[in-house]
Amino acid sequence: MHVKKQNLFLNIDLEKKNLRNQNKGQKKHKNKQLKPIKNVVHEDPINQINDELINNIKKLWTISSHPSTNVNTLNIDNINNRVRDAQYAVRGELVTIADQMQKDINAGKRTDFEKIVFCNIGNPHAVGQKPITFIRQVLSLVEYPEILNNPNIHLLYPEDVIERAREYYIGSKNGIGAYSNSQGFDFVINDVANFIEARDGYKADTSNIFLTNGASEGIQMFLNTIIRNNMDGILLPIPQYPLYSALLTLLGGTKVNYYLDESKGWGLSIEELNSSVVKSKMKGINVLAIVVINPGNPTGKCLDVENMKEIIKFCQRENLILIADEVYQENIYVEDMKFTSFRKVLLDMGEEYNNVQLFSCHSVSKGFLGECGQRGGYFELLNINKEVRDQIYKLACTRLCPNTLGQLVVSMMTRPPKEGEPSYELYQKEKTTILNQLKERSIMLTKELNAIPGITCERPQGAMYIFPSVELPPKFVEEAEKIGKKPDFLWAKYMLEEAGVCVIPGSGFGQKPGTYHFRTTFLADQDSLRDAVHRMKKVHEKILKEYACRIRI
Ligand SMILES: Cc1ncc(COP(=O)(O)O)c(C=O)c1O
Repeated sequence: MHVKKQNLFLNIDLEKKNLRNQNKGQKKHKNKQLKPIKNVVHEDPINQINDELINNIKKLWTISSHPSTNVNTLNIDNINNRVRDAQYAVRGELVTIADQMQKDINAGKRTDFEKIVFCNIGNPHAVGQKPITFIRQVLSLVEYPEILNNPNIHLLYPEDVIERAREYYIGSKNGIGAYSNSQGFDFVINDVANFIEARDGYKADTSNIFLTNGASEGIQMFLNTIIRNNMDGILLPIPQYPLYSALLTLLGGTKVNYYLDESKGWGLSIEELNSSVVKSKMKGINVLAIVVINPGNPTGKCLDVENMKEIIKFCQRENLILIADEVYQENIYVEDMKFTSFRKVLLDMGEEYNNVQLFSCHSVSKGFLGECGQRGGYFELLNINKEVRDQIYKLACTRLCPNTLGQLVVSMMTRPPKEGEPSYELYQKEKTTILNQLKERSIMLTKELNAIPGITCERPQGAMYIFPSVELPPKFVEEAEKIGKKPDFLWAKYMLEEAGVCVIPGSGFGQKPGTYHFRTTFLADQDSLRDAVHRMKKVHEKILKEYACRIRI
């Protein structure tokens, strides 16, 4: 002990001296002084042991630095397994192949198709939908506010566009290049609150409205807040937009599936919910919440108010949080159907239900705006504990703020030009044209798909998708399984490679075992869609012939 102390002091003294010499710039002398330490150390048995120890640690370090065992050298086996296991079919393997095929077509390496028809994702502008003029005009001025001072501006922009851009410029205080509040610009939150009130007939509390980078971010924030471990379960519809199952995997919660009833136009039955919850409870799962997508992705189903009331009653009975994904609220194509928010239905049910907790979200990506790339959205909390809301606010703070332009698009979605304003007519015309086209395409595509032997589908009531069932020949199924592929994946791959149409296999959304589906959007233009479905018919018939099945052609 004594020796050790002596050495320590000796070292400190030498270090001090060393520092002094360094300051004086006496390098030579400094080196002279350092050597004795080593000599002292080597003479000292304890330091010899220390040296050995250090050498052994170095050896161990070398062994543990081997790429396969050291977590600092990343490989597919040592990353977070939840990231590895999460699946998101909408942008999966088939889309990568499709992108490559399109590149080959562009480069003239492939001449079998003029173009790939992308029906894999609800990304309207990517397949030709034009942006709404008012939105882009305002954004262009907000992006470069100097133009607002140009004396000729009135020749270029309608008066209400100029006014709106000025309002945003002033409202954003420091411009769009600065962070906004973490919850979002106050003036946009006010627009959202007014929109919700006009839609539902009930005032919205601005402190419970959060602006987000698309609806996805809000959903992620909320699930992140409520899921604690793998004993926490969330009821997810099957088939379902795979963001939810991917997030459940990422966050380590448990997916509690409930099947939508294909024979009833993908209806949601309370018996099915009950049986799912009972089974999960028997496994010790604490079911926290239910996700309902209305209008549905991928099913296109719109819920009626009676069904929604039953769901709310079920939530109260089982003490479940209701997660209402309402991003397709503008996309309804049947005359006798009208969107009603879960919030309105819940509030209409009166005080008795004010203990039902609701998270609901909306987005600029869908509807007739289709501004997916602007990443604008919001969520609203209802009947959620204030302290929990504050924790969500804390999460919102960690991402600093939602992107500012996306927030302004949310403002324009919730406060479009009013009747009598210069941009009103064009806005309405563009809106109805887009929604009518979507409706026409959904009708045409349903009819054409149903004309393919073995393929059946319901006309979608809303959203942007059709989820047809495909009867596959048993031999085809066998073959797919033999090569380790899901039969509907193999089928969709044929559609891509032989028909040039990119659709997503049903297994990416979940489906009843033994059934096969695919999801297609109806966003591409009418002619491209019609050609695509005709090519699909030919390829499907070829598959049926080759695998000689029981389906009658
Ligand atoms: C049901 C549903 N919810 C949420 C989203 C996420 O949309 P975004 O994050 O672009 O708002 C989508 C996107 O397709 C969707 O289909």
